[in-house]
Amino acid sequence: MRTPHYLFTAVYAIFVAVVCAEEHSETLEMRKLPNGLKLGVATAAFQIEGGWNAADKSPSIWDTYSHIPGKIRDGTDGNDTCKSYEFYQRDIQMLKFLGVDFYRFSISWPRILPTGFSNKVSEEGIAYYNRLIDEVLANGIEPVVTMFHWDLPQSLQDLGGWPNPHVADWFEDYARVLYDAFGDRVKTWITLNEPKQFLIFGYGQKRFAPDVYSPGIGDYMAIKNALMAHARAWHLYDKEYRQKQKGTCGITIATDLRVGATDDPADKAAGDLAMDFEVGFYSHPIFSSTGGFPENLVKRVAERSAEQGFSRSRLPELTKEEIEYIKGTSDFYGFNHYSTKFFYARKYEPGMYAVPSYDDDIGAVGDYGSYELAPVMHTTKIPDGMRKALNWVKDNYNNPTVMITENGYGTYGGINDIDRIDYYRQYIDAILDAIELDGCNVATYTAWSLMDNFEWDSGIGAKFGLFEVDFEDEKRTRKARKSALWYKNLLATRTLDPGNEPKLEEISF
Ligand SMILES: *[C@@H]1O[C@H](CO)[C@@H](O)[C@H](O)[C@H]1NC(C)=O
Repeated sequence: MRTPHYLFTAVYAIFVAVVCAEEHSETLEMRKLPNGLKLGVATAAFQIEGGWNAADKSPSIWDTYSHIPGKIRDGTDGNDTCKSYEFYQRDIQMLKFLGVDFYRFSISWPRILPTGFSNKVSEEGIAYYNRLIDEVLANGIEPVVTMFHWDLPQSLQDLGGWPNPHVADWFEDYARVLYDAFGDRVKTWITLNEPKQFLIFGYGQKRFAPDVYSPGIGDYMAIKNALMAHARAWHLYDKEYRQKQKGTCGITIATDLRVGATDDPADKAAGDLAMDFEVGFYSHPIFSSTGGFPENLVKRVAERSAEQGFSRSRLPELTKEEIEYIKGTSDFYGFNHYSTKFFYARKYEPGMYAVPSYDDDIGAVGDYGSYELAPVMHTTKIPDGMRKALNWVKDNYNNPTVMITENGYGTYGGINDIDRIDYYRQYIDAILDAIELDGCNVATYTAWSLMDNFEWDSGIGAKFGLFEVDFEDEKRTRKARKSALWYKNLLATRTLDPGNEPKLEEISF
């Protein structure tokens, strides 16, 4: 009797899987981290601080949004979260325990400027961040500060928020307050964190605050204004502060990889266009030698807009002056990366997405291919995508200095998080390949995140922490996960060691 074909296929598949798995573990060897590569961890104000109405702080759009029943998956909000506003010193003890080189955190705009404008600067807001920055520095840790990690003052959203071009004035004024107050000690500034995520999700997809639904129109208006706001803050630093404060200023862009799912030219083109929409939308105007939005993206939105009966493209134009003004306004490429999506041209059908919209403009379907989905899907483990995304930046933008400002893995809990360790291990291995084999110019690596926190629309359900936070406990006690011990060891030895499997110990803060 002949062996049934499917049985042979199954056996062969198992054989291939075993061989590949072995091959893979063999490729992970002891590797020394390059001299000068700095390692840190990141957080964001709204996700950890709590103290949502402490002193004269006014509500941000995320306070408003998370207070609307049904918006946050588990019904939680940012009122208290990790209580870092109260217990920030404990966070710094955790950083010290890990042995990080730097701590990336963000400043809450409405805590510093309760009206949203710079007419009134909150003394208590300034005092809080002074205490935080001073204590970070006193522990030999460098502060890396994000000016805007999504918590726009509600008062400014009431005036339209990011789709209002005046946001560039408001942001420049806010940046000036920060440079004046903290620039003597803060030497690395990140203007905006992940413009795609707060603009497309916030103004075009009903996923994030402020939940304004204007797909393919309002979100695109907001993108132009955010680029102008960023450029204003950079030019301000460059002209008035750089010489005396001697720091750097840049932007962080979510640089997940998008590629064609097959070698079919239509899929390849779809992958390239998806990458333009996902990343190039923000990076091309700042980092490319020509400036402006990516050519194929401009063409696609213009074509679709015409087909849809608009009398002009839904994508606002950047004038020659604006293109020049935005070009070159980042001292480094702030790079967040989690996963990769594979795109198919032929799976797209008109009407499968809202019309018009960002997804419809891309006009293709993306998925995680045959990779095993991570519990939190956008962290599906595809380490090769990290290396390719770093190379995409190198090849398109003349090998800029890259600060990896976020990378991490989401779960739904558990302290013995070997899956997270495996993710970190494989991604850092891919980064070392990009540095050593491809010549990518990577200056920092940042693990997201120091601890579990308020994970936006997921609430406190999705866990990204090296430290577990007990949200039932008044004190929000933090417990080191196995990954925290693993990262501590990586920092101490500066060696990526496949044999580094720390024993779980009871360590809490
Ligand atoms: C957070 O504050 C809002 C506004 O006061 C309130 O409605 C909500 O119940 C608070 N959340 C919790 C968990 O107490």
